[in-house]
Amino acid sequence: MDVTDPTIKGLVRRVSPGIFALPTVFIVICAGRAPDASEWNEWTCLADCAIAAQNIMLAAQALGLASCVAISYTQTALKETLDIPDRLIPELMITLGCPAEDLAPPPRLALSQIVFANQYGKVW
Ligand SMILES: Cc1cc2nc3c(=O)[nH]c(=O)nc-3n(C[C@H](O)[C@H](O)[C@H](O)COP(=O)(O)O)c2cc1C
Repeated sequence: MDVTDPTIKGLVRRVSPGIFALPTVFIVICAGRAPDASEWNEWTCLADCAIAAQNIMLAAQALGLASCVAISYTQTALKETLDIPDRLIPELMITLGCPAEDLAPPPRLALSQIVFANQYGKVW
């Protein structure tokens, strides 16, 4: 769900105490869960949301936009604000906007610290 209406954005911001700025756009990624969903389904739903979030953030970056993933909102209040049906759960939010400054990429761990050959801890 793409939230751009200023009034609704203000309400979303109000139920999201960990989001400090008012971004141009909130994207809310929801998972659909059957009431009898297995634990496996629950996990794959979450993975799907995370994959969608990553794709959105990479696309935003390619368009020269800035994005931030956020989870510090009250799910029930957000559902009410956005009229999200019961069967859907807002799992992740992406805030989008024009970058305020041109930041260098954050430092990364060396690949050799996080990629292993064949077995964990084996040098790649
Ligand atoms: C799943 C997830 C949820 C997050 N939720 C919030 C949030 O609600 N509010 C917030 O300020 N940062 C949140 N963060 C942290 C920011 O998205 C971001 O990762 C952090 O500011 C570090 O960014 P940087 O690595 O570009 O410096 C969350 C991060 C993750 C991975």
